[in-house]
Amino acid sequence: MKFMNLGSPENASRYVAVEMFKEIHFNACTLLGLATGGTMEDMYRELVALLQRHQTDISCLETFNLDEYFNLDAAHPNSYMSYMKKHFFQPLGMQESQFHLPDNDLIDVEGDNRRYDAAIRVKGPLHIQLLGIGVNGHIGFNEPGTPFDSKTRVVELSPETIAANARFFDSQDDVPSQAVSMGIESILYSNRILLLAIGDKKAPIMARLYSMTEPDTAVPASSLLLHPNVEIIMDAAAAQHI
Ligand code: GLP
Repeated sequence: MKFMNLGSPENASRYVAVEMFKEIHFNACTLLGLATGGTMEDMYRELVALLQRHQTDISCLETFNLDEYFNLDAAHPNSYMSYMKKHFFQPLGMQESQFHLPDNDLIDVEGDNRRYDAAIRVKGPLHIQLLGIGVNGHIGFNEPGTPFDSKTRVVELSPETIAANARFFDSQDDVPSQAVSMGIESILYSNRILLLAIGDKKAPIMARLYSMTEPDTAVPASSLLLHPNVEIIMDAAAAQHI
């Protein structure tokens, strides 16, 4: 696992955007695992600008998102579908058939989850899996305690995660208490993993992750120690205790 402190948040976002751009531009049918969250907004802006400036052919690009709130309408402004449409899918003019988020409605969610993992298994490995990190070390919505062979499934969000994500909603009570998350097994089924962490709030968990030499389910991001090609990209604030 390679830890990189790139100084400014702009440099950290740009590094990830450029690496994603190169993969999409030079590989006609790129398969990506995508993440949401405040951290990714500048990265997506840079990535869209690069793809547009270079007139990259994205007609064969296909993406699988990490997670979605459970039983929240896709059209809700805080759904991850809305986030992805706003920051990435619509600016690039991607077709509905090119992007996938875990199905989050009440109808046959277990069957849908199995099909999500199966699609990644059949089409994968993902060329790049993009990750953010929660203040408690979650990746996707795989909260502390999640087994590393976990599959895509409905998860209960921890109080820390609900509190951290409340800033996107009118109040903490409006944050859904459940989500559907890609499992750690599918996250690890990728050729390369880029984890982006920006800002002071991530400093304690980044220091903890840096100190770990063995994977431990108490810190879901430590599952990345099992993967041979992981870059942890930080700004100086996130890396301040390292
Ligand atoms: C959210 C998402 C994660 C994301 C993380 C960090 O809960 N489920 O995929 O990486 O929390 O989000 P932010 O970038 O807003 O700090």
